[in-house]
Amino acid sequence: MSSLPVDDVQGQQYFDKIIAEDSRIEPSDWMPAGYRKTLTRQVSQHAHSEIIGMQPEANWITRAPSLKRKAILMAKVQDEAGHGLYLYSAAETLGTSRDELVDQLLVGRAKYSSIFNYPARTWADIGAIGWLVDGAAIANQVPLCRASYGPYARSMVRICKEESFHQRQGWEILYELSHGTPAQKQMAQEAINRFYGPALQMFGPPDADSPNSQQSMAWNIKRFTNDELRQRFVDMIVPQAEALGLHFEDPDLKWNEGRGHYDYGELDWDEFKSVIAGEGPCNVQRMQRRRQAFEEGAWVREAAAAYAEKCERIDPNLISA
Ligand SMILES: [Fe+2]
Ligand SMILES: [Fe+2]
Repeated sequence: MSSLPVDDVQGQQYFDKIIAEDSRIEPSDWMPAGYRKTLTRQVSQHAHSEIIGMQPEANWITRAPSLKRKAILMAKVQDEAGHGLYLYSAAETLGTSRDELVDQLLVGRAKYSSIFNYPARTWADIGAIGWLVDGAAIANQVPLCRASYGPYARSMVRICKEESFHQRQGWEILYELSHGTPAQKQMAQEAINRFYGPALQMFGPPDADSPNSQQSMAWNIKRFTNDELRQRFVDMIVPQAEALGLHFEDPDLKWNEGRGHYDYGELDWDEFKSVIAGEGPCNVQRMQRRRQAFEEGAWVREAAAAYAEKCERIDPNLISA
C-alpha cells in the first residue's frame, strides 16, 4: 500500500469503506484494477451468454405449436437480446468499449455460459430451458441485484423480473405437455432428463474448484457460493417437478432430514470441462451463427453511426455521449 500514489491510497480507503458499508461503487469511483477486471469479465460474459442464449430458442420460433406460443417465445427471445444490451452497457461503464467486448467473443477469447452449447431438440426442450435454465439464471442473479457495482446491480433488477416470466412460461409449457397425451408427457420427461445436469452446472464448479469465488465474495459481487446457490436451486425445483408429475433421473436425489435439504448426485464435471473447452454439441455452430449475424448486421451499425454523425452536424445537442 505504501508504494501507491496518494490518490490510490485515498481511493482504496474509500473503496474499502463502501464495501464495508455494503454500499455501491459507481463508474467514476476509484476501484482496484482487479475489481474492474473481474467485473468487466463477468458482466461481458454475462452479456455474451444472453446473446448466444437466443439461438437455441430462436431456432423454435418458426416451429412453435401455436400462434400464442410463437408470440410468447418471440417476446422471450427479444427479452434476452435486451438483457445483452443492458449488460454490454453496464460493462462499458468499466472502461472497455462494446466493440472490444464483442470482438473478444467473436475471436473466441471470451466465454459464455456453457449451457447454450446444448441443442433444443424438441418443443419440450423449450419448456425445460425456460423452467430450468432461466430458473437457474434467476437463482444466480437475484443475489446479483445486491452486487457492489451499481450499474451491474441495477441492470439485474429488471433482468430478474423478466427472467421470472421466462421461467413461468417454460414451466407452463411442461405442465401442458405433462398433462397431455402419454407421448407428450414422455417428451417432457426426456427434456428435463437432458437439462437437469447442465442446469445444475450453471452455478459453476464445486466450491473447492472455484478459487476466484472468495475474492468475489469479499468484494460483495458474489453473495453465495456456487454450491450454496446450487443447493437452493435443487431445493426449489424438486417440488416443482412433483407438481408437474415429472421426476429427475438422479438416484441420489432425496430429502435429507438432518440437513434440511435435498441431497443430489455428483455431476459430470468432465463433460462440463469439455463443453467449456469447446467440445459441446453446438459450440462451433453457435459461434458460426454469431459471427454471421454480426456480419449481416454491419449495415445497421453503419447506418446508425452515419445517422448519429448527421445529427451531430446539424445539432450537437441532439446526441449526448
Ligand atoms: Fe436473460
Ligand atoms: Fe431468460
